[in-house]
Amino acid sequence: ASEASDYDIVFIGGGVAGYVGAIKAGQAGLKVACIEKRGALGGTCLNVGCIPSKSLLNNSHLYHQILHDTKKRGIDVNDVKLNLTQMMKAKDESVSSLTKGVEFLFKKNNVDYVKGTGSFKDEHTIKVNLIDGGETEIKGKNIIIATGSESTPFPGLEIDEKKVVTSTGAIALPEVPKKMVVIGGGIIGLEMASVWSRLGSQVTVVEFLGAVGGPGMDAEIAKQAQKILAKQGIKFKTNTKVLKGDASGDGVKLDLEAAKGGKNETIDADVVLVAIGRRPYTEGLGIENIGLELDERKRLVIDQEYRTKIPHIRVIGDVTFGPMLAHKAEEEGVAAVEYITKGYGHVNYGAIPSVMYTHPEVAWVGQNEAELKSAGVNYKVGTFPFTANSRAKTNLETEGLVKFLADAETDRILGIHIIGANAGEMIAEGTLALEYGASTEDVARTCHAHPTLAEAFKEAAMATYSHAIHF
Ligand code: FAD
Ligand code: NAI
Repeated sequence: ASEASDYDIVFIGGGVAGYVGAIKAGQAGLKVACIEKRGALGGTCLNVGCIPSKSLLNNSHLYHQILHDTKKRGIDVNDVKLNLTQMMKAKDESVSSLTKGVEFLFKKNNVDYVKGTGSFKDEHTIKVNLIDGGETEIKGKNIIIATGSESTPFPGLEIDEKKVVTSTGAIALPEVPKKMVVIGGGIIGLEMASVWSRLGSQVTVVEFLGAVGGPGMDAEIAKQAQKILAKQGIKFKTNTKVLKGDASGDGVKLDLEAAKGGKNETIDADVVLVAIGRRPYTEGLGIENIGLELDERKRLVIDQEYRTKIPHIRVIGDVTFGPMLAHKAEEEGVAAVEYITKGYGHVNYGAIPSVMYTHPEVAWVGQNEAELKSAGVNYKVGTFPFTANSRAKTNLETEGLVKFLADAETDRILGIHIIGANAGEMIAEGTLALEYGASTEDVARTCHAHPTLAEAFKEAAMATYSHAIHF
């Protein structure tokens, strides 16, 4: 039963999930508000996540390439210097122009932007502590929670964002640390390790599993990625647990315990990055005032249509189930609004791509070999290495491969895994193929322009259903 409401939909959180949903609702002609407490729209992704990290990844790669990879291309370069302040400025400018862009889109689509922290007073009313001081209350016929996630802390190591940092500190270090230790060899760990290693830091990644890359990455690809990154200068300690840390002195000391057989050691660093995962964020949201509960992983529980047990209150993005990815959050923003306006929505959770923006990039969509094995699926594998691709050869970028996993009987594509210079763009084609239920033969019979890296994608499909031509 809904009471008189000021807004058709109120979004709490102006991250990718919330701002995309709010724009979609505005486009549908609904009266919509979005409450955001950080003083800028775009959430983690635009402000301290996807965007600033990609700016640093791109520019640190360019720097590293100019230092180490121009001679063989016939380009002699002298006096290459790092201007970290300018690199950070370029990053900040990308961020601010994008967040302002979202503000403009709010105006264009009649979304009311409420700057402050939202907290449930009752099932339809949200109290907002305004950034500029004071308080207001707004009511929503529908309310969508999109409050995102935060870095998981490491017990006993207090984050000061200077010596002991999360990704937020790691994208804003004022100077290149001499020694950096990264706890956690997942996506954040490897992307940030790449940035600082390229800029001159001695980086060690400590990962308690036997492989890096975090959940989802195919084991064969993860192994190759680790090998290539190690060649670039990053040290890895896998199967190693950080027991405790001590940041009371000048730097930080970490006690490490190696898996069975190995020896324990203490290592020190100027900066330690804690990158052991992220957890849903609901602090100060007042969910206890309306009887909503979190599951054992602190996620807000929802049904297929993103509804909590209070049906007009929905939840999207990092704060609920599924991969913590910006494009997943974005899809949910659109779908949640469509459930409200049309009664149906669509997100295919089986076809959400993942990209690690190291060099080379790693990208995948669908299932990996371990997942297919544990599900008892009879599958076949086809691969094609970039060493056999003409464009990769001309670019002098031949590391990596494309790997297809397909149903052994029907040839339907089940997973695509790529490591290579352009993997993050190439996976879009794989995602489309998976979404359309394509077979590897469908891809193999699709004409691809020559010479492009994408031909490796086609040839891997050919190798899966019959034979590659060039390998
Ligand atoms: P968020 O973006 O976290 O937004 C939630 C917003 O809600 C925040 O702005 C917060 O201030 C606000 N909020 C919280 N509580 C309240 C409240 N009570 N009242 C008002 N506002 C509130 N994903 C990718 O797909 N690609 C990448 O390359 C990528 N890189 C990343 C790099 C880093 C370093 C990090 C940390 C993350 C990265 N991610 C990446 C993940 C991506 O940032 C998240 O998946 C995405 O931001 C989730 O969107 P969201 O809207 O659910 O949450
Ligand atoms: P993650 O879950 O990807 O990786 C965490 C890693 O830390 C795992 O490999 C885990 O085994 C390891 N670990 C956990 N506890 C540990 C301990 N005590 N000691 C040593 N290792 C430990 O999490 P991460 O990298 O923090 O990223 C968080 C989220 O942000 C991810 O869900 C990811 O999807 C998202 N993200 C996405 C990016 C992208 O799409 N390019 C970039 C950055 C983040």
